[in-house]
This record gives sequence, structure tokens and C-alpha cells, in this order.
Amino acid sequence: MKVRIAPSLLSADFARLADALQMAEEGGADLVHVDVMDGNFVANLTIGPPVVSALRRATRLPLDVHLMIERPETTLSQYLDAGADWISVHVEATHHLQRCLDQVRRGGARAGAVVNPATPAEALGACWGDLDYAVVMSVNPGWGGQPFLSSSIEKVRRLKDRARESGVAVPIEVDGGVGVDNAASLVAAGAEILVAGSAIYGQADPLGAIARLREAALEGVRV
Ligand code: DX5
Ligand code: ZN
Repeated sequence: MKVRIAPSLLSADFARLADALQMAEEGGADLVHVDVMDGNFVANLTIGPPVVSALRRATRLPLDVHLMIERPETTLSQYLDAGADWISVHVEATHHLQRCLDQVRRGGARAGAVVNPATPAEALGACWGDLDYAVVMSVNPGWGGQPFLSSSIEKVRRLKDRARESGVAVPIEVDGGVGVDNAASLVAAGAEILVAGSAIYGQADPLGAIARLREAALEGVRV
């Protein structure tokens, strides 16, 4: 099993995003996680399509765009146009999850669905066949640097089981409070993509932090 590491730019210096991208590349990251917040679905407000488009031009790494926005179906196409490679939408933010996922796929990107901590794994319902990845929020979204909710480990297991029952091999991403302390348990539970903000960009040595996180995650593969 391959574990992918996705540094989250939310914890990087927003005035030096190009440097943050370079660190991700040099550190051997697999994806770059981009947190889009609308000040409505979550209280915080971060970046929009023009910045995603600038990031796209500045790195060869795939951009994993996490849309924390209400009614993503209305603005989704702008993120496709901006060059997002992976796009995830929250199941809590739309009445039309299947339509959103279909829109992402038809736009040539990988489609993901995200579940908040209070949303059960079963909320992905009949959409497993429309998904390229599923995301477990292991904090309530809005800010970086929040403590990891340990119930998320069981949620990863449940999602993995639901995917298996539906006959699909959808990788599970975990986002929020991920670090060297919980990486192995998450991977052992079935997580394949680890998003980390403060555990990478919040560290004095982000390159070393990526390497340590990968090493910790690999312990989970060996379990
Ligand atoms: C939280 C964001 C996360 C955040 C993770 O709302 O979706 O991607 O950047 O940051 P850490 O790893 O610090 O919890
Ligand atoms: Zn995120």
C-alpha cells in the first residue's frame, strides 16, 4: 500500500506560498492540500480560484483542493478551470452530492467527498461508485492546528468497510490534527492519504517533518 503525504498550505506563510510549494516538492510530498473556505460553511475565509490558478502554475505537484464552501455546485467549475487536480466537497454542504462528484469527474479531476466529525460514514450512501477518494475530517474544519479527534480512527475503518461492501477501492484521506503521533494508527485503520498542516509548515524544519511523518505512517503499513 502506498501512503501519500499532502502538506496543507493553510499552515504555510500565505505571503510565501511559492516557497511552501518548493518545500513540499523537495520534501517528497505526493500532493499539495489547498483549503478553500468561504466564511459561511466555515467561519474562516482563505483563498479562491485566482490563487488556485497561481499555485497550479507554480508547482508540478497535484493540487488537492478541499472546498469548505456552501453549495459547491455553484462555483465548482471555477476550481476545475483553475487547474485543480483533485477536488473534494463536503456532504454537509450540498443537497446534490452525486451531481457535484459527477461535475468534478467530467471536468477531468478526481472527485472526493468529505465527512465532518459529526457525520457518519454511512452518509456517503449510494455515491461510492462516483468517488475517487473519501475524506475523514479529524477536526471540525475551519482552522489549522486543532487537536486530533481520536474517534476518527474508527471512522476511517468504517469508511473502508463501506467502500469494500460497495465493491470499490476508494482511498481514504484524513484531514486535521494529523502528525507523527497518530499517523501509524490511521494508516493501520486504512488511511492512504495524510493531510498535515501544522505538523509540517508549523515546524522549524518542514522538509524533515515530511520525512518523519512518512516514516511514522509506514509503521502503520507494517502492522
Ligand atoms: C482544516 C483544514 C485542514 C488543515 C489541517 O479545516 O481542512 O486541511 O489545514 O491543518 P492541521 O494539520 O494543522 O490540523
Ligand atoms: Zn483541508
